[in-house]
Amino acid sequence: MVMPLTIRGFRVFQGYLDSPAQEALVAGLREVARQAPFYAPVTPSGKPMSVRMTSAGRLGWVTDRGGYRYQAHHPEGMAWPPIPETVLDIWRAVSGVSRDPDCCLVNYYAEGARMGMHQDKDEGQFEWPVVSISLGDEGLFRMGNVARGGKTESLWLRSGDVVVMGGEARLAHHGVDRIRFGSSRLLPKGGRINLTMRVVDQGKTEQQPSSP
Ligand code: SIN
Ligand code: FE2
Repeated sequence: MVMPLTIRGFRVFQGYLDSPAQEALVAGLREVARQAPFYAPVTPSGKPMSVRMTSAGRLGWVTDRGGYRYQAHHPEGMAWPPIPETVLDIWRAVSGVSRDPDCCLVNYYAEGARMGMHQDKDEGQFEWPVVSISLGDEGLFRMGNVARGGKTESLWLRSGDVVVMGGEARLAHHGVDRIRFGSSRLLPKGGRINLTMRVVDQGKTEQQPSSP
């Protein structure tokens, strides 16, 4: 296995996935998106996010006027599809823990999309890592501190890179300032996909009834 680069506790496996592995993941995600289409999320204050989002797994992470949370259904009411085995294989290889994640959040960055600095903190416990997989165009990933503000360090994440956010990095702020649209040919329409796998347990969850 490639040795990870460690930046502020973020363990970055550069070039972890070769092209065939990336293609296999994209095929699996196409099936996820067929069953649970990408949708346009809004923040609890009603601000549209620039990424498009869906999830796989027992729970999906969602945001709308009702808040940030995990729930068992897509906003349109269907159950989330299972996390593809190809994705779970990566978690099992790099997470260092013996249980599988509950959620795989899928974010799609089209041209101009970004993700503000935030912490992943809607899960029940923080001793489990979050594992991130990048596919498609390069994204400028910013790594900060557990407390808001302060110095940060940035790194371009490329298609096939895997990041493990555990230990001191588990609650560190992070975000994506911009993508280099058109820098990869993996996705036919361009853009960047990022997957993050999380153990949710008794996190901030809410069972919502299916849409009427
Ligand atoms: C996230 O923090 O949810 C996304 C990180 C990324 O896109 O690399
Ligand atoms: Fe995050």
